[in-house]
Amino acid sequence: MSHQLPEDQQRFAAPAADSLPLSDGDPDRTSVAILAGDEPVGMFALDRGGYFRKFQDSPSAVLLRAFYVASDHQGHGYARAAVAAVPAFVREHLPGVDRVVLTVNTRNPTAIHTYTSGGFTDTGKTYLGGTSGPQHILELTL
Ligand SMILES: CC(C)(COP(=O)(O)OP(=O)(O)OC[C@H]1O[C@@H](n2cnc3c(N)ncnc32)[C@H](O)[C@@H]1OP(=O)(O)O)[C@@H](O)C(=O)NCCC(=O)NCCS
Repeated sequence: MSHQLPEDQQRFAAPAADSLPLSDGDPDRTSVAILAGDEPVGMFALDRGGYFRKFQDSPSAVLLRAFYVASDHQGHGYARAAVAAVPAFVREHLPGVDRVVLTVNTRNPTAIHTYTSGGFTDTGKTYLGGTSGPQHILELTL
């Protein structure tokens, strides 16, 4: 995969070339391709460890992270479809998980809209540990 993101979005997510290797050898982290037919157009990861353990200690919660749709494929509904598919995917592949948690930069209205349209709700809490500024903490109860 050689996905690119527009320069002004690069602070929000890293492309697969950078984030996929992080799943190697990490039993807590599962990388998921977003496919349009056979073509990978983006990805996300589900992480049962990771930085959200700084603010979330429930063993039945998983962090959705590293979510993006590549530049050439944006605006076609792929992110919306991927978010809609998350609950069924988690139920099938991560039994025992009952909540999906994510953080999203407060200056990323497109992603916030995509997640909340897909059923995520704002917890009202903010995560300040990222490198690109404050992030809302959203969650989806399965
Ligand atoms: C956020 C992102 C995943 C959206 O991907 P996408 O496939 O283009 O989104 P979709 O086509 O499924 O559209 C989802 C919603 O966002 C809206 N949207 C998409 N691009 C938009 C834009 N540039 N400006 C405003 N709204 C936009 C769509 O209208 C749609 O809303 P609707 O269902 O009410 O019509 C993509 O922009 C991205 O990868 N950004 C960089 C990485 C990132 O921010 N990841 C999130 C990290 S938490």
